[in-house]
Amino acid sequence: MRSEILEILRRAGDKYISGEEIASRLGVSRTAVWKHIRELREAGYEIVSQSRSGYSLREAPDRLLPSEIQHGLDTQCIGCQIEAHEVVDSTNNVAKQLAAAGAAEGTVVVAEQQDGGKGRLERHFFSPAGKGIWFSVILRPAFLPQEAPKCTLLAAVAVARAMETFGLKAGIKWPNDILYENKKLVGILTEMSAEMDGINYIIIGTGINVNILPEDFPEDIRQTATSLAIMKGEKIPRVRFFQAVLRAMDDLYASVRTGDFEPVMQEWKKYSITLGQEVRVIGVRDGEVFTGRAADIDADGALLVDTADGRRRVLAGDVSIRPRQ
Ligand code: BTN
Repeated sequence: MRSEILEILRRAGDKYISGEEIASRLGVSRTAVWKHIRELREAGYEIVSQSRSGYSLREAPDRLLPSEIQHGLDTQCIGCQIEAHEVVDSTNNVAKQLAAAGAAEGTVVVAEQQDGGKGRLERHFFSPAGKGIWFSVILRPAFLPQEAPKCTLLAAVAVARAMETFGLKAGIKWPNDILYENKKLVGILTEMSAEMDGINYIIIGTGINVNILPEDFPEDIRQTATSLAIMKGEKIPRVRFFQAVLRAMDDLYASVRTGDFEPVMQEWKKYSITLGQEVRVIGVRDGEVFTGRAADIDADGALLVDTADGRRRVLAGDVSIRPRQ
């Protein structure tokens, strides 16, 4: 009902529309309309009223509400269902529970804040209230579990595309960090439930530092983390940015779901700041450290590094770009 009232107010533009008119269009009482308007105001919508003319929507909040995100979101799959929370431990955990209970492919879980945000390698991921976009998407592709890591590349490319629509140049560090001036803007954590012969679901969790200011970051990551607002020098509208990311994900997933990763791979290479660079790799499993030149990614999304002892293939690892001597 709330979203229908909002739609009516949006369509009216600057004009006022009476409570009676809204009530009769929706087949409810005027009191019901009034209650919903009150709730919308509490949620941050600026709705003005005039005694004879009715209501008019002046401003929608830049909050990650399903009604705002879905408004004008013309995607086929990603964002078909949106579950929004004020605070959760981790949107990946919530998405996993929903997926296990049968949630549809494309379902998005987003939160204003995470108090147990998870990063790769069991690191904590800083996710303060109202300043970022912390979200997870449920996918159920028909391809084999071995292909799943490539979905991470899809998410990084989607954010990079969204940044471009906001005039920001993205640089992706293999496999999934987006950096600006060598500081982290975006992190992605992909989790999966699968059998040998098929995927039950993939959760792609993405954390985007949108409007975090330097002084907001905890001391321990202040030198290594940054945000879109710092990059742009002004606040970024989170809802519009999020819509741009979801649109890009939807577009890229149309080929990925059929097992065709080529468009994602090509675009990932375009945004890569790793390829062609001297890198230092720390192996995830054995902690082995080696250096070399990042030459390419292969069809599995693995990083190919040319070392003094020949070419090495890195499927999982911590890669840092070494400054040129
Ligand atoms: C990393 O950089 O190590 C990955 C960070 C992933 C963070 C996102 S925020 C949304 C989702 N929920 C989580 O708990 N983690 C991911």
